[in-house]
Amino acid sequence: MLATKFRSRNGPPNASSLNHGNMAHLMQSEKNTLLSVRDLSVEFHTARGVVKAVNSVSLDIKAGERLAIVGESGSGKSIMSMSLLQLVQYPGRITSGSAMLEGTDLLALKGKKLRAVRGSKVTMIFQDPMTSLNPVLRVSEQLIAPMRRHLHLGQREAKERGLKLLAQVGIPDAEGNFNNYPHELSGGMRQRVLIAMAMACSPRLLIADEPTTALDVTIQAQIIELLAKVSKEEGSSVLFVTHDMGLVARFADRVAVMYGGRIIESGPTDQMFENPHHPYTRGLLESIPSITGERPERLSQIEGTPPDLAFLPKGCSFADRCPLSDEVCIETQPASLTVASDHTAACHHSDVVASLGERRLFDAEN
Ligand SMILES: Nc1ncnc2c1ncn2[C@@H]1O[C@H](COP(=O)(O)OP(=O)(O)O)[C@@H](O)[C@H]1O
Ligand SMILES: [Mg+2]
Repeated sequence: MLATKFRSRNGPPNASSLNHGNMAHLMQSEKNTLLSVRDLSVEFHTARGVVKAVNSVSLDIKAGERLAIVGESGSGKSIMSMSLLQLVQYPGRITSGSAMLEGTDLLALKGKKLRAVRGSKVTMIFQDPMTSLNPVLRVSEQLIAPMRRHLHLGQREAKERGLKLLAQVGIPDAEGNFNNYPHELSGGMRQRVLIAMAMACSPRLLIADEPTTALDVTIQAQIIELLAKVSKEEGSSVLFVTHDMGLVARFADRVAVMYGGRIIESGPTDQMFENPHHPYTRGLLESIPSITGERPERLSQIEGTPPDLAFLPKGCSFADRCPLSDEVCIETQPASLTVASDHTAACHHSDVVASLGERRLFDAEN
């Protein structure tokens, strides 16, 4: 059963937080919001037509919160996160939306102001550590540069903080490794250097796009734990992109599921694992091995492929893969509705999904 498979860390919300506490809770959460993304859309104009990679996405991240963005390959996770720093390359274009961070719209920044935010207030770690490091510069130079530029530290102060950061991210012999070139380090060590660089200016928000995919499994877990530890120490929020639900369960406070360029469900991690309201989220959960490792279970499989973003259907983009789909789903795109406190889902049959309990929605493999 899902609820035991992904055991709750905090238990169900108590009655008071759902009833009379609701208004106070809302005001509190608004006050703590660090990033507020509204109606963000990104399009690619291609020979095949207009590819709607990100389709009217809205999300919030609170101060100090870790939000995981999940979804299979091609669902728009990378383009959405890159667009927050205006890093989407031509022919990609942000066609609508805002991303307010402490009173500044990240999507409206230009020139010097944009560069000042990138690398200091909001930083990003990419999937492949080798392409993100400059091969001809020593680790020391790459680590020190953002602190000199953004924090205006002197050479000696920057070096001191650099060594401290390397120790903080678990690099042994920080002094020795400080002067190495990237190719002299292992993949895991390079990813640690990138985390140190991303944390150098104590960013308000760290965006990490599948930061562990290139690493082997034991190192992956270490890197994620490290990200959690360092972001907590520095008080940074984290937007974490992954397709690994196991990592989500261990790392994230909240989860947003992307499908076909939209966020189709989002909520607190516990609620999302125990009581998913969208069939796609349910399918993702049914298709992972038991996180608690209690016993091997039969895994479900979501048949079919994600939609072509150049030819999105008029109704629900998951309809052709969904065991619950009917005429309404094919005709009408479901709106994103609040299904529980701080929990939204865009599905015409979310109540059916929520009442599945131990029953499977998708067929098991073999
Ligand atoms: N350079 C490009 N030209 C055209 N379409 C693109 C380009 N880059 C990305 N896309 C489209 O954006 C979609 C989302 O890509 P991406 O954000 O990288 O997915 P994810 O990170 O979830 O795997 C892709 O499925 C593709 O259709
Ligand atoms: Mg990606």
